[in-house]
Amino acid sequence: MKLSVIGCGYLGAVHAAAMASIGHEVIGFDVDHAKIERLAAGEAPFYEPGFNDLLRESLASGNLRFTTDPAALTGSTVHFIAVGTPQREDSDGADLRFVDAAVTGLLPHLAPGDLVVGKSTVPVGTAQRLADMVTPTGAMLAWNPEFLREGFAVQDTLQPDRIVYGTAIRDGAEVEILDAVYATALKGGVPRLVTDYATAELVKVAANAFLATKISFINAMSEIADATGADVTELADAIGHDVRIGRRFLNAGVGFGGGCLPKDIRAFAARGEELGHGRALRFLREVDEINLRQRTRLVELVEEALGGSVAGRRIAILGLAFKPNSDDTRDSPALDVATRLHGLGADVVSYDPEAVGTARRARPHLVFAESLEEAVAKAEVTVVVTEWDEFRELSPDAIASAVAEKKVIDGRNCLDPERWRAAGWTYRGLGRR
Ligand code: UDX
Repeated sequence: MKLSVIGCGYLGAVHAAAMASIGHEVIGFDVDHAKIERLAAGEAPFYEPGFNDLLRESLASGNLRFTTDPAALTGSTVHFIAVGTPQREDSDGADLRFVDAAVTGLLPHLAPGDLVVGKSTVPVGTAQRLADMVTPTGAMLAWNPEFLREGFAVQDTLQPDRIVYGTAIRDGAEVEILDAVYATALKGGVPRLVTDYATAELVKVAANAFLATKISFINAMSEIADATGADVTELADAIGHDVRIGRRFLNAGVGFGGGCLPKDIRAFAARGEELGHGRALRFLREVDEINLRQRTRLVELVEEALGGSVAGRRIAILGLAFKPNSDDTRDSPALDVATRLHGLGADVVSYDPEAVGTARRARPHLVFAESLEEAVAKAEVTVVVTEWDEFRELSPDAIASAVAEKKVIDGRNCLDPERWRAAGWTYRGLGRR
């Protein structure tokens, strides 16, 4: 099938390459010339395991092309909208300017029978509004939310947990077209759910709200564990054995960040208020607050470890990305903690296996190391803020002679306290004994 993908950021670029890899003829479109040039040259503009190979193979097969020319959109039967919906600068709501511009720009290139497919995360009610713009051309619109996780984007795109189509008519032609697009995954047994627009839009934000709530729940428990001498990791293991609860997304630490969870729960709460049902989603404000409090708690732990003030003290920050296997520092708790400690006058040196470049562009005033060894040299306290394998597997003996003091703070509860203590280190985690 002939597909176009409008918006070649994280979501769009991976979707375009993945669709081409299963045999579709795909045009990736973006208004950003630099991004398109890099993608067309087979160079990933972000770090994502497996994406570079997928991109190169799809380009080499001739199934994938990138362009900034909107005229190239004419002739595709299915047009995916994969542009960003960032948080608005003046409120918690989602900024829909890019979605609106993408659809408006697409209208002249649509032919009757074409299908426009929204993948971006949008406030409920957006799909219907866009459908009203699209249907006068004779084209149709469906909403097909994306659930991919950074670090697993390729796998999640090719073998998703589920596929959701939000359509105007339950058995309309849209379903048949989308079934043909996703034939490979569907043959593999991926569950497929057909809903109305509002449900499809809500599935995405409800899933993210649930995940965020789960993380904030365990982080709230970590606060209580700290107050009572209990251990939140053992608690998570024990409650996680209950299959109704499950162990995943119960890792307490410095909290969630990234380009999705924080902005999505804020936009969802804001949308609830617009709908006159703010009360129903008020708990998401609390989820957000608990999450942000973890960053403050971590800064306080560092202050405590240094006996009060951090001014002039040498601190090693291990991790800058919002999670491992990513170079993304959007709303990253790690980068936030490094920035706050720097703001308090500390001598902070930060290191991340992949995210130093992005972090430096976001916070040019911070000091970055090119290696873990350089970051920990003469550190009075070492703080792990992103649980990369390089840090998890770090031997406490390997850096003992480099640091000034053997003090480690585990902002992701990812180290083995016994191992570090046995090697003579003072270990502190969030909610750990
Ligand atoms: C998320 C959703 O998982 C995905 O389905 C959606 O499409 C986009 O948003 P992503 O932002 O890539 O994906 O990362 P995710 O793996 O969900 O992690 C989000 C944040 O939560 C990270 O900062 C991570 O460190 C944190 N987290 C996750 C915890 O603090 N504890 C956990 O137990 C799990």
